[in-house]
Amino acid sequence: MLRPLDRRQLIARLALVGLGGTGLGALTACQARHTHPQNARPTSHAMRYRNGAVAADHPLASEVGVDVLRAGGNAIDAAIAVNATLGVVRPYSCGLGGGGFLVAHDEKTGRSWAMNARETAPRGVWESYFTDLRSSGGPDGASRYGGHAVAVPGTPDGLFLAHRAHGTMPMSRLLAPAAELARHGFEADASHVGAVESLAGVRRRLPWTKTISQWTWRQWCHEGTVTVGSKLSNEALAETLETLGRKGIEAWRTGPIPEGLSRIARASGGKLNVDSIAEYRADEIEPLTLKNRFFGDTIITMPPPSSGGIAIAQILATYERLLKAAGNPPLESTQGRHLLIEAMKPAFALRARYLADPAFAPVPIDRLLDEALVESMTAKIDPNRARTAEEIGEGLQLPDDEGTSHLCVIDGQRRAVAWTSTINGTFGSLVGDPESGVLLNNEMDDFTTIQGEANLYGLRQSDWNLPVPGKRPLSSMSPTILLNDRGSIEAIAGASGGPRIISATLQVLLGMRYGDLDAASAIDRPRVHHQWLPDSIRYEDDEALEGPGWRAPLEAMGHTFDQAPRGVAVVQAIRVHSDGFDPASDPRKLGVAAGY
Ligand code: DON
Repeated sequence: MLRPLDRRQLIARLALVGLGGTGLGALTACQARHTHPQNARPTSHAMRYRNGAVAADHPLASEVGVDVLRAGGNAIDAAIAVNATLGVVRPYSCGLGGGGFLVAHDEKTGRSWAMNARETAPRGVWESYFTDLRSSGGPDGASRYGGHAVAVPGTPDGLFLAHRAHGTMPMSRLLAPAAELARHGFEADASHVGAVESLAGVRRRLPWTKTISQWTWRQWCHEGTVTVGSKLSNEALAETLETLGRKGIEAWRTGPIPEGLSRIARASGGKLNVDSIAEYRADEIEPLTLKNRFFGDTIITMPPPSSGGIAIAQILATYERLLKAAGNPPLESTQGRHLLIEAMKPAFALRARYLADPAFAPVPIDRLLDEALVESMTAKIDPNRARTAEEIGEGLQLPDDEGTSHLCVIDGQRRAVAWTSTINGTFGSLVGDPESGVLLNNEMDDFTTIQGEANLYGLRQSDWNLPVPGKRPLSSMSPTILLNDRGSIEAIAGASGGPRIISATLQVLLGMRYGDLDAASAIDRPRVHHQWLPDSIRYEDDEALEGPGWRAPLEAMGHTFDQAPRGVAVVQAIRVHSDGFDPASDPRKLGVAAGY
């Protein structure tokens, strides 16, 4: 048996080979490659905190959150400070130029709350925008890089909405640690160096991106010379954060900040405009709550425009039935893995067909969560054989008469927050504004950009997800909270990693609740992912950890594995035990959790 720390170091080392791109020459914000396992400091293995805990994917961000809790802030205050800090110390993953989803629950009042701060398509785009761009000779990869890829950011309004709704400390205080780090700097870790290498690869493959990524390349990559320990700072971003702290959200909606962002995006052809930035509003929404849906637990998670909540609920409900029918095999057994992968396939096929922004498309949420559908999905799964993508696609119809950094916080009053934020790909659109220091997202690629073509994550999506001004692109972000049958918080989780967010979040929840693992062990376990198409299992190589040969019996059942192992997302989680909070951050991205 490996001791926990050895095991976590090994995972960080394996992540070096494990977190490659999608095979499409693509960059994704969670996929920074890690090179120095010795950088992975001991985490919270077996730690129990009584007063509060934070699991973010950068140690400085977790510490900022705990400082806010210690100073008397609640979980939302801490989450705001952590989110803003992540936008500085993980600039290739999230930030003011991106968007996100938040799910919160207050155990004392029994009330849940969710926030939709997803980016929107700007005024001036239309459904065939990217197809037309291609036929008129637009740049290769226009939905991924440069101004065309940029959607209207949602995170700034989200920070202020969360604060108005539940914050208690002044916004200037909550944004101050992020501003401080932006001004005085922090050290690059191996994850950052991996992101720099990824961007260097894009600039080599698509030379036209050299011009549009100039600021990002200089500011956050030091022209490719960043190494572990290099000092990174961003004075302009520090000033933007301080301005927002002093003047409020109005400073984002009108004036030099939106003017600069719009100018820089439009310089490479995009449609981002000051009106769209001014009219953007994050929404307070009801989370998707599924009572007693998973081994008796209640799942509180994100509804559309995320596909994550629905997919997690479908997969867990299907998998629970399959596990029971198979006599509760261990998750790591051939049977356990086979059933999980088979449960993933139809959920992702349904995602491809039915999911989009419900404000613009008739998403049949109730029918997608109907017990009868789960029963029929379960009944079609063969306990001994892998089904092909065609088989799943064909049999899959709803009845005709019916339709990137993640953070977790819990405070001493048992208020829990799960918040996933994204700029989509690594360094988003690559376009950043020197005046405000803000890097802009490439969330337009989460729309169905060219009909019939897969996106950055190999996902095929329906026409319901075509871009329209004001519409939010379909997402996989899945901030999730689990309550037990007495209504007590059991677990908080979420991830970065495109569609792998869904499979990784649910595997960590399974590890904690079905496998009874502490949060770090549940996160450390190797994961699998199947998204219907491509019809192949993405996997983390656990031969070194669990013994060789685990894939052969699955191959004999008809499963196909990717040619090489790659990372399956980056998860942060907190498990609540009777003797305290147990937070853990993913060693795959060198995160370290904190508590007190
Ligand atoms: O919303 C989504 O589903 C994607 N924009 C998430 C991207 C992501 O997790 C990047 N990390 N690898």
